[in-house]
Amino acid sequence: MPNSKSDNIIAAQIAATAGHPGPIGVFDSGYGGLSVLRSLRKALPDADFMYLGDNARAPYGNRSFDLVYHFTLEAVKYLFARGCQLIILACNTASAKALRSIQQLDLPTLAPERRVLGVIRPTAEAVGEITHSESVGLVATPGTAASKSYDIELAKLHPSVKLYTHACPMWVPLVENLEYDKPGADYFVKYDLDALMSQSPAIDTIILGCTHYPLLLDKIRQFAPPSVNVVPQGEIVAKSLTDYLHRHPEIQELITQGGNTEYITTEEADKFSNLAQIFMGAPVEAKRVHDLSTGN
Ligand code: DGL
Repeated sequence: MPNSKSDNIIAAQIAATAGHPGPIGVFDSGYGGLSVLRSLRKALPDADFMYLGDNARAPYGNRSFDLVYHFTLEAVKYLFARGCQLIILACNTASAKALRSIQQLDLPTLAPERRVLGVIRPTAEAVGEITHSESVGLVATPGTAASKSYDIELAKLHPSVKLYTHACPMWVPLVENLEYDKPGADYFVKYDLDALMSQSPAIDTIILGCTHYPLLLDKIRQFAPPSVNVVPQGEIVAKSLTDYLHRHPEIQELITQGGNTEYITTEEADKFSNLAQIFMGAPVEAKRVHDLSTGN
């Protein structure tokens, strides 16, 4: 648990790394953000990355706003203390429930020159350009769905788009428990897509509003109507980050360029490495951090 001593240690580490180039931090509650990391690495092959999965406390999707904010802030502080100057919250639930508070309330005192970005705004931006019928479906965790974050962003960016949302509480557990390609997953994917599509036959685009869902992509495409465009987030977020770095050379300069990725999990390292290899399509050797608040 955090206390003033561990807070001071983390604060001292953040101060010691201020202004020094470091890896891009990528954070998710568990494995899902790896689907974004894979696209980020493809788009920025020379950049260094540090991936953090809070597997010990996943899933976040059913947790309260306060708790998701608290967990996400701990993760951000940990990644800052490890030298990241830029962090992507590759988790819709954390982006929906914690990003704004961290950007507006914490960053100004914690590390005003560092940046924390999310995945919801770039996805909302891109999807408005993809839909023709202007009727878009969203599948997401209960937390992301209840936050209405996609509704808010779409209303600002593409006000004529109508959003139909359906929460899928079983999809993340199917992935985290390695059931995503098993017959049991068929039932839940079909059930939830039918529920989404029953809201409007005009839906021509479905946003996968959770970074775990690309592992279910084959089944989602199997059970979605063939005319519907299913949109995962990895490439969208990667393109958005590339554009952002072009517009912000001062942030680009703070990213080390060794082409390496470090993987950190709050759960058992071997278990993480085995599943992470499926997401990354390449060998992964993770390390464990037992307590994000102390960094040990
Ligand atoms: N992968 C995360 C997301 O994009 C969260 C899943 C969870 O922890 O419930 O929402």
